[in-house]
Amino acid sequence: MKAYQITGIDGLASLQQVTLPDPTPEPGEVLVRLRACCLNYRDYMNVMGIRGVTGPIPRIPCSDGAGEVLALGEGVTGWQIGQRVVIPFMPTWIDGGFTQHHAGNALGGAVNGLLREQACLPAACLLPIPDYLSIEQAATLPCAAVTAWDALFVRGNLQHGETVLILGTGGVSIFALQFAKQAGARVLVTTSTEAKADLLLGLGADAVHVYQNDPAWDDWALSQTGGLGVDHVVEIGGPVTLNRSIKATRFGGHISLIGVLTGTAGDIQTVGILRKGIRLDGIYVGSRAMFAQMLETMTETQMTPIIDSTFDFDQAPKAFQRMASGQHSGKIVIRI
Ligand SMILES: NC(=O)c1ccc[n+]([C@@H]2O[C@H](COP(=O)([O-])OP(=O)(O)OC[C@H]3O[C@@H](n4cnc5c(N)ncnc54)[C@H](OP(=O)(O)O)[C@@H]3O)[C@@H](O)[C@H]2O)c1
Repeated sequence: MKAYQITGIDGLASLQQVTLPDPTPEPGEVLVRLRACCLNYRDYMNVMGIRGVTGPIPRIPCSDGAGEVLALGEGVTGWQIGQRVVIPFMPTWIDGGFTQHHAGNALGGAVNGLLREQACLPAACLLPIPDYLSIEQAATLPCAAVTAWDALFVRGNLQHGETVLILGTGGVSIFALQFAKQAGARVLVTTSTEAKADLLLGLGADAVHVYQNDPAWDDWALSQTGGLGVDHVVEIGGPVTLNRSIKATRFGGHISLIGVLTGTAGDIQTVGILRKGIRLDGIYVGSRAMFAQMLETMTETQMTPIIDSTFDFDQAPKAFQRMASGQHSGKIVIRI
């Protein structure tokens, strides 16, 4: 089979297309013919060799994939050859709480990912793709959508009428916008450019703030909530944005700490968290059970993911360049 491997720490130059032996399913596994893979910022960091992120090499990148069942390992029942399936980010995290074991099985990080033609996965982790979604659309869901779902509904317990502040127009943020609007929340979003602001308003954002024009988006969020602050923040920035998120959050509010776009450590106003009684939740994607619940709700509402661009397998490096440009809104897909 064809695959891509990260072979070093020289960025895109280290992303090599290779030929590997076709995998054979072990008992309890399903062989999946991958048809689409989707990028997350984490995949970009891995490929670029950003320190502290890259796992052991050579390593097949990318956590998110969807495809068709090609063969069943011994003892596997309940799946049909040709059935369309999507693969969770951590194949061992079926239900219940997060553990170190699950983190150690994150695709495209701790273990080989899905930017390849075939992969064997535990039968118990797979999810059928709802009929209304294409395989490409399904491939956008395992990381960004499940993360947004976990942040808003599992850890956040978002209620109708609450206000959510979302940062940016990346994969996690656009899914969070779509989910929060469908749940009847009021959604405030920050973004870099006027053009992206128009897209967000088109997707139902109640108010948008262009931070390139005015970096004080925390004051803007306060002014949008009568000075009280928002109920929830979907925090994808990290150390440089977190202090503004704390300021923008109401007393007793909730911040989902998701992203590392501005780094992995910093000077945080911890007193603001305690003084306001803010609940600060570290989020690491979510379980298969969360994914299944999300798919059920998406099927009811027929929600479709926003795809920024699609690249052929041989053009995979261009997909990473698109992410590097920062011009994307929504998900970047690679057809396999
Ligand atoms: N913890 C988890 O489980 C989990 C899961 C998925 C992703 N993540 C993390 O979440 C972050 C976003 O991931 P993604 O895949 O959604 O990324 P993405 O699709 O590349 O989106 C990034 C977007 O964030 C905005 N942005 C960039 N720098 C910013 C800054 N300094 N301040 C505010 N907004 C900024 C930009 O949108 P605008 O131009 O519109 O501002 C950019 O397009 C990454 O750090 C990723 O590693 C974590």
